[in-house]
Amino acid sequence: MTFDLERARNETPGCRNVLHFNNAGAALMPERVLDATIAHLELEAQIGGYEAAEYAQDAIEHTYDAVAALFGCSRDEVAIIENATRAWDMAFYSIPFKPGDRILTAMAEYASNYIAFLQIARKTGAIVAAIPNDVHGQVSIDALRKALDKRVKLIAITHVPTNGGLVNPVAEIGKVARDNGILYLVDACQSIGQMPINVDQIGCDMLSATGRKYLRAPRGTGFLYVRQGVLEQLEPPLLDLHAATWVAPDRYEMRPDARRFENWEANYAGKIGLGVAIDYALEWGMDTIWRRIQTLAYQLRTQLSPLPGVIVRDRGVTQCGIVTFTVENKEPEELRKTLAQQNINVSVTTRSSTLLDMDTRGLTNMVRASVHYFNSEEEVERFCALLASII
Ligand SMILES: Cc1ncc(COP(=O)(O)O)c(C=O)c1O
Repeated sequence: MTFDLERARNETPGCRNVLHFNNAGAALMPERVLDATIAHLELEAQIGGYEAAEYAQDAIEHTYDAVAALFGCSRDEVAIIENATRAWDMAFYSIPFKPGDRILTAMAEYASNYIAFLQIARKTGAIVAAIPNDVHGQVSIDALRKALDKRVKLIAITHVPTNGGLVNPVAEIGKVARDNGILYLVDACQSIGQMPINVDQIGCDMLSATGRKYLRAPRGTGFLYVRQGVLEQLEPPLLDLHAATWVAPDRYEMRPDARRFENWEANYAGKIGLGVAIDYALEWGMDTIWRRIQTLAYQLRTQLSPLPGVIVRDRGVTQCGIVTFTVENKEPEELRKTLAQQNINVSVTTRSSTLLDMDTRGLTNMVRASVHYFNSEEEVERFCALLASII
């Protein structure tokens, strides 16, 4: 079946203004998401914020069902949180680490996650170790197996790192985690919305994600999955009157579901927009989206590679919509600014966002061009032609 690009572009108002290859930064919202989000803000202004939330209760609650459908989990295992970082933090900082406990992670782990590992290591005496990559540049399953011992308390892996097309083998890692009874936390911030994600297939206990990237939801939306059974054992690092109830002068009771990881005040317009964005993605179909993104990214890599001085840097057996490259004698930031003058959006990924990976590869920064299903083949060609003319 051919992909209905015309529909995708017609339903994306931003396509009329920009050539947007910054979908791993924040994708262009579909019209439907924009309308639902603005409508709720207007309702808040017209009748009051609390009253609007009461009125829109079904749409707000629907977002939990939408996440559950996206992940293949139950709505009680879902928390909606303001971004992926806090979602991940709420899971990670709930885990009670002791001196000598080990945390295994990936070489291309995201800076915020690694900073949290280092902080917990300093405070508790836990030890963090990055599993070496295999020859393809993804987490080595052999090295993971070799790194296991009784002290491994957590495996925490970023599915798609911030700095490239790599897709880590999260399901194979999940099998190792499950076989050995080790807690498994996946950062799916950059994979959600571009490929199918099923928490049972991955075999994770916790998974964090964001709305604004490949899901095309409003900014300031994120969410967390915590497996029933695991969530009962975890006490969030922060609690409030939404996450728990004050039942006696010296006692509180936590909510039984994953909303114990949330807090009371929230951006309801964003939450509704997130639900609509997920419905919209599921309507296209995650398999369809994933095929389309891989096709476009392949085209982009293929057309970039022969350009003089350009080196495409993506690694991994499976590569996603994030295309990274360097150009000889050209600063990525300078290129980004030049492209922006032509209404072409890309971003720059820097050393400190994925320090271990960048240092190992001898890189300081790269241009990151991330394609989505609503981008066109013509845009890929225009992008490469323009780049060729400025390098
Ligand atoms: C791999 C990864 N994890 C987490 C995050 C943080 O997501 P958020 O900005 O929604 O907190 C990012 C953002 O770029 C990311 O690339």
